[in-house]
Amino acid sequence: MNPILNLFGIKYPIIQAGMIWCSGWKLASAVSNAGGLGLLGAGSMYPDVLRDHIRKCKAATTNPFGVNVPLLYPDIYLIMQIIVEEGVEIVFTSAGNPANWTGFLKEKGIRVVHVVSNIKFARKAEECGVDAIVAEGFEAGGHNGREETTTLCLIPMIRESVKIPLIAAGGIGGGKSMLAAIALGADAVQIGSLFAASEESSAHPDFKNVIINAAEGDTKLSMKSVIPVRLVKNDFFEQVENAEARGATKEELVSLLGRGRAKRGMFEGDLVEGELEIGQVSALIHHIKPAAQILNETWTEFINRREQICKLNF
Ligand SMILES: Cc1cc2nc3c(=O)[nH]c(=O)nc-3n(C[C@H](O)[C@H](O)[C@H](O)COP(=O)(O)O)c2cc1C
Repeated sequence: MNPILNLFGIKYPIIQAGMIWCSGWKLASAVSNAGGLGLLGAGSMYPDVLRDHIRKCKAATTNPFGVNVPLLYPDIYLIMQIIVEEGVEIVFTSAGNPANWTGFLKEKGIRVVHVVSNIKFARKAEECGVDAIVAEGFEAGGHNGREETTTLCLIPMIRESVKIPLIAAGGIGGGKSMLAAIALGADAVQIGSLFAASEESSAHPDFKNVIINAAEGDTKLSMKSVIPVRLVKNDFFEQVENAEARGATKEELVSLLGRGRAKRGMFEGDLVEGELEIGQVSALIHHIKPAAQILNETWTEFINRREQICKLNF
């Protein structure tokens, strides 16, 4: 049996990525109800807000769901306490050192997955005892690695380097790219951008429209000197680029980014001054659809494409 289906007790090897300002209980429960694994994005939630979303998600689905926790989160102790108190069974950690929290979570019987973008951290996460790894390529929306390794290269590299189950992320826009990721050695896929534009995503409608209208080249990896993040090229993005070009200090860049920029852009719909995180695959996303439809279409395309390829004569 597929190790990811086994690990989480889900029907399809499709995980909806934890995404700040996009993945609340409505999206996570819709994906889990459809047979994938929905994740709440704790990175944009105050501790009490997270508790509320966990409770609402539990009420909306009896299927497994999880929480994504970026480990740089300032109130991390409170967040982890709530996760344990509320009986969350699956945690995806990212943006930080897996050594800090894996042991704590595993002791509580929680299944832990860590997100990486290079071999070094994949090995480290395995040593720390995580149950699986998400390997996220350069194409992905949101925060990313400095190495700029694309999904096509990253997945086989990580597959060669670790033994634990592997989830591919970055550029998965449907069943065809899912099949490619599986062919490269992944056991499952994690999809972000496609679900960010779903009906149930809590992103602002204007941001969803930016996603479905994005064209090739409209996003770029930015903030490489601080914390690399793939952004839509808007005024805010230009300010960051200019600041980096004139050699702005890390402190200046951090203050330009500020904590409110992502909320302003993705949640409040300020398309000019806000931070808009999305992946290269946005150029392939043309419609806002219900999350269950996205999942079903991805799975059907995966199965059909697999069959077509088997019939090819070389
Ligand atoms: C709007 C947005 C917000 C994101 N926020 C987070 C986050 O809070 N934590 C995290 O680990 N990854 C975050 N990511 C990355 C995703 O979890 C996922 O790995 C990535 O989107 C996969 O690539 P794709 O966008 O090409 O599907 C975010 C991505 C997007 C598009």
